[in-house]
Amino acid sequence: MKVLFASSEIFPHAKSGGLSDVSSALSETLAAEEGVELSRVMPRYSFIEKKKLKPFKRAEVFLGGTCHEVNFYKLEKSGVVTYFVDAPLLSETLGMYGEAGEDYSNNDLRFGIFAAAIVELARLLDVSLLHLNDWQCALAALFIKERELDIKTLFTIHNLAYQGVFEVGALSRLGIDSKHFHSDGLEFYGKVNFLKAGIGWCDALTSVSPSYAQEIQTPEYGCGLDGFVRLHAKKLTGILNGIDQNHFNPKKDKLIPFRYDANNLDAKHQNKTAFLKATPLKDPRKPLFVMISRLAEQKGLDLVLESLESLLAEKINLYVVGEGSASYKERLEANNGKYENFYFHNGYDEALSHQAYAAADFMLIPSRYEPCGLTQFIAMRYGAIPLVRSVGGLKDSVHEEEALCGRGIVFEPYAKEAFLEAFARALALKKNSKKYKAWQEQNMGCDFSFAQGAQEYLNLYKSLM
Ligand code: ADP
Ligand code: GLC
Repeated sequence: MKVLFASSEIFPHAKSGGLSDVSSALSETLAAEEGVELSRVMPRYSFIEKKKLKPFKRAEVFLGGTCHEVNFYKLEKSGVVTYFVDAPLLSETLGMYGEAGEDYSNNDLRFGIFAAAIVELARLLDVSLLHLNDWQCALAALFIKERELDIKTLFTIHNLAYQGVFEVGALSRLGIDSKHFHSDGLEFYGKVNFLKAGIGWCDALTSVSPSYAQEIQTPEYGCGLDGFVRLHAKKLTGILNGIDQNHFNPKKDKLIPFRYDANNLDAKHQNKTAFLKATPLKDPRKPLFVMISRLAEQKGLDLVLESLESLLAEKINLYVVGEGSASYKERLEANNGKYENFYFHNGYDEALSHQAYAAADFMLIPSRYEPCGLTQFIAMRYGAIPLVRSVGGLKDSVHEEEALCGRGIVFEPYAKEAFLEAFARALALKKNSKKYKAWQEQNMGCDFSFAQGAQEYLNLYKSLM
């Protein structure tokens, strides 16, 4: 079976969040499967050097009467061929989606060109299945159906809140027939919604955890699309994400100073000591709580900020690393220097994040909503106990009660009291060093890879053939 896997970010070429990790780990696991010939495609952003890629083919895509030239490049690595779409509008900007917190105003055209290029490449490669991810690829599902191409599409929703919504003029710019502009089509409160193209026109629909697949059918988590998702619920399956366990492996990780495994947790403590030395935080005997997160409302930063004083009144250290919204950045930064046991590092830093996972005793993930979340898996792999809100993929992967895999502290209501109670349970767990260590060891021995998830995707692929 020939498959083309399309995503706007694939690690290590481009990353803004978990989509990149998953696009890489899932596609590599699937590519290794018997009977699957999988290649993948993503944009060539300006920061991906052309000289490292091989020119493949030139093509033209027609959108709204305008011809856009695209050049495909390719790279073979880790057993998978990755194609890169190079087009002036897509490739010449500094960022992927925007700059300085502002989305590019022509993202409709940029990702319209990307979607059309995906379809062109799928034809060139003669694939029978196209696996599309998130709104940036979503229009490809519609283009395939419009052109009556014999290619099946599977569309994966990683985060329903990001929909790619544009002014109605996008329709003519992209040459999309206005007959699709209605509430069961692309229309969304008078605008054009790209995500709806993926949900509406795909042959199979997935989201990244069983719980989230249910939640997005409710008004509370449906981001205005719950009715539309319910309309297409027959096509929908929730498949839990996994991580690349080779990349996230404390035994082999070159980004951390002291490598370790479950039999050598003293070396984890050495990582903690080294990590704290490089920050204003003191005393490695105190439990270290870490948060590694995009600075977005989704991630529960309000709850952390609201509870900060109570958290920091305890003998703990709290380290937050993140990038995103200017207002969260300011609110977090305002606490630097105010408490001796709190530090916020603003920025996106892959190496620092690995060092923080290795140093952490606990990982805070109090999300308002979480389609799947990857930081809980990475934390558990590095022997840090996750403290999570029971929602979406966090609910499916972290259990406070007896469980074979995925032990952590779990709370449910999105409220300060519930969060602080969970925090108190975390402190009690840490004091019970035998139990804490048993949870660490249990988690570190778990399989959080895509082994099972990839099988579920594969079964879906097969069901479409
Ligand atoms: P989301 O995709 O919603 O941001 P996930 O938990 O699925 O959340 O994935 C987040 C990924 O991004 C993880 O690999 C995490 O380690 C990484 N990450 C998040 N913030 C940072 C940061 N500031 N620096 C480095 N890595 C980060
Ligand atoms: C999104 C979600 C996150 C998920 C990731 C990968 O960014 O916010 O929960 O883990 O996609 O699927």
